[in-house]
Amino acid sequence: MQQLQTIKKVEKFKIKKEVPKLMPSKKQEKKEKELKIEDLPGIGAATAEKLRLSGFDNLMSIAVATPGEIIDVAGVTEATARKAIKAARDSLDMGFQSGIDLMQKREQVEKISTGSKNFNTLLAGGVETGAITECFGPYGSGKTQIGHVLAVQTIVKDPEAVAVYIDTENTFRPNRIKQFAQALGQDPNKILKNIKVARAFNSDHQMLLAEKAEELIKQGLKVKMIVVDSLTAHFRAEFVGRGTLAERQQKLNKHMHTLSKMADMYNLAVYVTNQVMAKPDMFFGDPTEAIGGHIVAHNSTYRLYLRRGKKGTRVAKLVDAPDLADDECIFKITEKGIEDA
Ligand code: GTP
Ligand code: MG
Repeated sequence: MQQLQTIKKVEKFKIKKEVPKLMPSKKQEKKEKELKIEDLPGIGAATAEKLRLSGFDNLMSIAVATPGEIIDVAGVTEATARKAIKAARDSLDMGFQSGIDLMQKREQVEKISTGSKNFNTLLAGGVETGAITECFGPYGSGKTQIGHVLAVQTIVKDPEAVAVYIDTENTFRPNRIKQFAQALGQDPNKILKNIKVARAFNSDHQMLLAEKAEELIKQGLKVKMIVVDSLTAHFRAEFVGRGTLAERQQKLNKHMHTLSKMADMYNLAVYVTNQVMAKPDMFFGDPTEAIGGHIVAHNSTYRLYLRRGKKGTRVAKLVDAPDLADDECIFKITEKGIEDA
């Protein structure tokens, strides 16, 4: 009930502040001032309005769109969509960036604490903004608990920040948020207020909610964390049988693309959870593998494998990271959140 109310709240959210700008360079800002959506070739005032209403309200959003997306919302021909995208790209210097530019972008990356010193060390400080962090592992390994912790820590780090929680399994528990907030000496209501929870009832709804998260940002909310728990459960349940695999992977890819685009454009952290399945033909090594195959693996920047350890502890193993060594750490789940074992 609480969650349904929150969904309504999320959808009803009123415009509060000015829309935050997406870290454009000075040069880009100048060019954007010069060029408007209706200035793009083949895009008149009416089409520009359609685009704006569907969330394509700046040149960057058009520059990173696919022709299919533009065709869908604006009803233009493919040639027009391609030309408009190209013109938006040309106006924004979207080609190569120098190492210095990228270095400056990296400097804006923030780390969100996991609450456990060892876990933070494993991730060189915590869960990164501008990236997707995936935790996969068997039931009860701590994936959901970490999602709750990260939502709280995001707001503790920045009281203005908002965490979006897309809950597909009905496992979001306000009570756990309350416990974690209290353990950190925070006002639980303040933290709960800044977590926007929406229950996703199927994979299409889940994909839509991820897109809606962008609307919250455009309405002025400072979204710094998006949790998708679980990323893959609906997809796995809905697409059964060999024949549906391609469609499932295509949809998952699109969903992750939405998330990754938002992480990059708004410098926010995305945390997704993923189940594992048994590999019955495996005789050596780990007999489980993550759902979603290479689509999920390649779209995740950091991948962690969670499992139960000795005496009720949990083990997190970093299995993929662009700039960190593969390593593991031991932690435990407690009343207060996650802590060093
Ligand atoms: P699935 O979603 O089923 O795949 O599992 P998951 O990986 O999301 O597991 P989750 O994060 O929900 O972890 C569940 C485990 O957390 C439980 O088995 C408990 O060991 C632990 N846990 C949950 N709540 C509490 C609590 O209030 N206190 C303590 N000490 N442990 C808790
Ligand atoms: Mg879970």
